[in-house]
Amino acid sequence: MNGIIEVKTGKPYSIHVGSGLLARAGELMTAVHAPGRVAVVTDSNVAKLHLPALESSLMAAGFAPVPHGFPAGEASKTLATYGNILQFLAENRFTRTDVVIALGGGVTGDLTGFAAATYLRGIRFVQIPTTLLAMVDSSVGGKTGVDLPSGKNLVGAFHQPSLVICDTAVTATLPKEVFADGVAEALKTAVLRDAKLFALMEQGAWNPHLDEVIGTCIRIKADVVEADEFEQGERKLLNLGHTLGHAIEKCSDYAICHGHAVAMGLAAVTRAAVANGLATQELSDHISNALQNNNLPVLLPMPMEKLLPAIASDKKRAGSKLTLVVPLAIGNCTLLELPLQEAQEFLRKGA
Ligand code: GLY
Repeated sequence: MNGIIEVKTGKPYSIHVGSGLLARAGELMTAVHAPGRVAVVTDSNVAKLHLPALESSLMAAGFAPVPHGFPAGEASKTLATYGNILQFLAENRFTRTDVVIALGGGVTGDLTGFAAATYLRGIRFVQIPTTLLAMVDSSVGGKTGVDLPSGKNLVGAFHQPSLVICDTAVTATLPKEVFADGVAEALKTAVLRDAKLFALMEQGAWNPHLDEVIGTCIRIKADVVEADEFEQGERKLLNLGHTLGHAIEKCSDYAICHGHAVAMGLAAVTRAAVANGLATQELSDHISNALQNNNLPVLLPMPMEKLLPAIASDKKRAGSKLTLVVPLAIGNCTLLELPLQEAQEFLRKGA
């Protein structure tokens, strides 16, 4: 399946989804950018796997790619790597009319997008996500940024890409754990908005429907982002499972990967919803079974008492209040804005 999803944000853009699109990236880019020099930022793993194919496709369409690499991994998502990308753009005299491509997973997209948002006060960028997580979540919606020693994604900007190209075939090269990160986000999306997608994924044997799952998640995320580009309200729903998930990542010193942490967070907030009288035990069983059928964990890896202090530093906290995303039914979640202590009491019951 090859499909095009239009995102009607302040600056609208198209997302192409389908198998084999990396080889057509240059041609697809000509619809939005005149051929010329193009910066390509990627990490050391993705450079080996996918950079040659992208460069050939760009050159065939008349672009002259100038690549820049950095070491793969979340540890690279720093102000220093960001500074190196800016320096690379400046040394190569890229101007406001040029374009930067982010080829890679969430780290590459967030770093490159933030460099594009700020270099010369903003240049255009194209997202070519290579992980399932980046396809279904981080490459859509324009959130860009870097980590600080105090926490993840604490510096950033909203900067929408001019184009997103998802070659679904490249997910075949992903290690199991990295693929699982994306599966957790896809299930989260299903619980948020789409009972049909949930039914498709709940038994775990949905690989033949990979393109459909990716396309549906992107359409849902695009709808949420169109309604609330700058996260004043509805977009907070995308944080389902993430309040506890982020705390789990932090308290495990990032030994537990994002997908596993989000899965545990989603299962726990649903248990809390049941204990607080907002959801049925059947819903909790349903969500836990779907996570487990997709090889994702549902039990907390440490006592809730250890996690609750960590949610106080959630960057989604506004003043003394925290917004929890609570499932009521498959496809229907609600936002609960509570004073921090009440939010902690609510979650405590989900241990
Ligand atoms: N990853 C959540 C969002 O883009 O809002």
